[in-house]
Amino acid sequence: MASTVSHHTGTRITDTASTERIAADIERRLRAADRLVLPLEDTLELLGQLQQFELGRFLLHNRGLNGYWTSYIFRNRPEGPVTPLEHWLLNDSLLCQARERYHRFRELIAEHITDGATLASVPCGVMDDLLEQDYRDVTGIRLVGVDLDTESLRYAEENARRHGLAEHASFRHEDAWNLGAEEEFDLVVSNGLNMYESDPARLTDLYRSFHRALRPGGRLLISFLTPPPPPPWEAPEHAAAWAKYRIGEDDLRRELSIMGDIVQATYLNFSSESDVRSQLEAAGFTVQAVRYNAGGVLPIAIAVK
Ligand SMILES: C[S@@+](CC[C@H](N)C(=O)[O-])C[C@H]1O[C@@H](n2cnc3c(N)ncnc32)[C@H](O)[C@@H]1O
Repeated sequence: MASTVSHHTGTRITDTASTERIAADIERRLRAADRLVLPLEDTLELLGQLQQFELGRFLLHNRGLNGYWTSYIFRNRPEGPVTPLEHWLLNDSLLCQARERYHRFRELIAEHITDGATLASVPCGVMDDLLEQDYRDVTGIRLVGVDLDTESLRYAEENARRHGLAEHASFRHEDAWNLGAEEEFDLVVSNGLNMYESDPARLTDLYRSFHRALRPGGRLLISFLTPPPPPPWEAPEHAAAWAKYRIGEDDLRRELSIMGDIVQATYLNFSSESDVRSQLEAAGFTVQAVRYNAGGVLPIAIAVK
């Protein structure tokens, strides 16, 4: 079984010494770097600030998000005071723009809520996508969450109970590349896994696994990240392309400094629409549509078996 690609340790990092070790390694790497997006002093200041809140520490340790922190960003309801940098991550960063896609996903999922349907979320994380839906008008619905991380599965179970959906939900500790399901699901929703994988052949294998798990006629809803243009300060002719992302230059520099120079996030594997279309088709799907947001970014592909 593959290891989780997006994180390796528990959700709450309480071991201060290990955070300090990781930060010291990052600081050494930053000091030796030929080129940084922001001046070194500003970059080190951000590194210091990231250690001051749980989401920041999780990013430093894991270079990506797990189900819990993805949900935390999408829901944007922190339980206590937040530091200025955490506030920025939750409200002004590119990362938090995925929240809008999460809501588009929910609208697309709602179209598939019918009597007796089996809906799966792979990877489910805490499974907000399927659990934050209205099932009052249907009977016999089954919700299946699959994740490789037992802690995420525990959160998802708790979430199902909180929504009064525990009796409709079941959870599987499986690798998305090797799903046990065969022709079982009417819908597979997949957000936040393919962007951690850089190998196109592995991506096609992932989509084959989704294809096997779906009933004939079943649908896959899947997000992907398209390649962003080069930063506008390096290539001013791309300023218009950046306008689609609705992020100012200072915020973009901060984002690239944090996710690129400091965290070296592992989820920044980009696929063009045509790559995703060919991979889905190679896996046996017919691509029905690719839907972007109003600005023309953050696509969701809709594919049919
Ligand atoms: C960024 S989170 C997204 C979770 C959820 N889909 C969402 O949008 O909130 C990525 C999830 O992928 C899970 N994951 C990573 N590798 C996996 C694999 N090979 N098979 C199944 N789940 C995996 C992680 O445990 C984590 O919960």
